[in-house]
Amino acid sequence: MALESRPDQPHEFETLLESVRLMHCDNHAGEVASYIPELSKASPEHFGLAMATIGGKLYTAGDAEAPFTIQSISKAFTFCLALEVAGHSAVLARVGVEPSGDAFNAIFFNPATNRPYNPMVNAGAITIAGLLCEELGSGAFDFVMDRLSAAAGRRLTLDDAVYRSESETGHRNRAIAYLLLANGALTVSPDEALDLYYRQCSISVTASDLARMGATLANMGENPATGAEAFELRAVRNTQAVMFTCGMYDYAGHWAYDIGVPAKSGVAGGILGVVNRQLGIATYSPRLDVKGNSVRGIASFETLADELGLHAFDCTNMGSSFVSTLIV
Ligand code: DON
Repeated sequence: MALESRPDQPHEFETLLESVRLMHCDNHAGEVASYIPELSKASPEHFGLAMATIGGKLYTAGDAEAPFTIQSISKAFTFCLALEVAGHSAVLARVGVEPSGDAFNAIFFNPATNRPYNPMVNAGAITIAGLLCEELGSGAFDFVMDRLSAAAGRRLTLDDAVYRSESETGHRNRAIAYLLLANGALTVSPDEALDLYYRQCSISVTASDLARMGATLANMGENPATGAEAFELRAVRNTQAVMFTCGMYDYAGHWAYDIGVPAKSGVAGGILGVVNRQLGIATYSPRLDVKGNSVRGIASFETLADELGLHAFDCTNMGSSFVSTLIV
């Protein structure tokens, strides 16, 4: 597809996002998550796409302003913040950076280290939450909220109903937290770490917010629209690396093969992709496949990666330069 800017027409990115939405909106495969009861109330038809550039622009299609909870996508950001707050070696002493090849809620640690495989699965993210509590005490959630809000460029809020629903029903995560305590990966109480984890997962966002947060990662940690510094430079690099290898759980290999950008999904139906030094891309559609990834989200990213030549190792297009004329 040839892309060029004309001032009298909708931007090519907007036209592209709308065509991707139309291409996939009749796909009704998958199920809305119900293991957290409050999530089952989501409208299965919601479908939003957004793309934010490091030039500070935002392009959207469909339900890009529909709110949903960030869920596991928060894990990428809390990992990034823990690297800054606790230091890189302290973080890596608690959690690995190897793909697990397992489901996000697996009760399984790396047998060589007795530590979670990576910060993108629940065990790793609960460990990271514990580390943030250890470093920041009762101010940990406000710190996370402030930085994620800086990345989004607006004040984000907590979805209290989802937070309560998840706190009441998260027995599997409680089991994981007690095992982490037993093997020394957690040094604060499981309840404290879990409370931060449930809160971070219950932050309400839209596809537009997520795209802007992705553009902040793509822009070396600085929100390109507001100039706010949200994340540390080196932590941004390492976060994108772990998103690339582990962000889509037991689909991570396939995602890297087909789509080829760092990404993170959440069970509320969001997917965030980062095209380094170019774009944040987000999709929202709540029907999930068996691995917990949004069905329409994956399909949309496949189309966008093809159309824009986003794959990190794509040799047949112009790579970054293909998009870069349009991102200012
Ligand atoms: O721990 C949980 O089950 C949720 N708060 C987050 C899981 C999640 O988003 C996994 N993503 N696909």
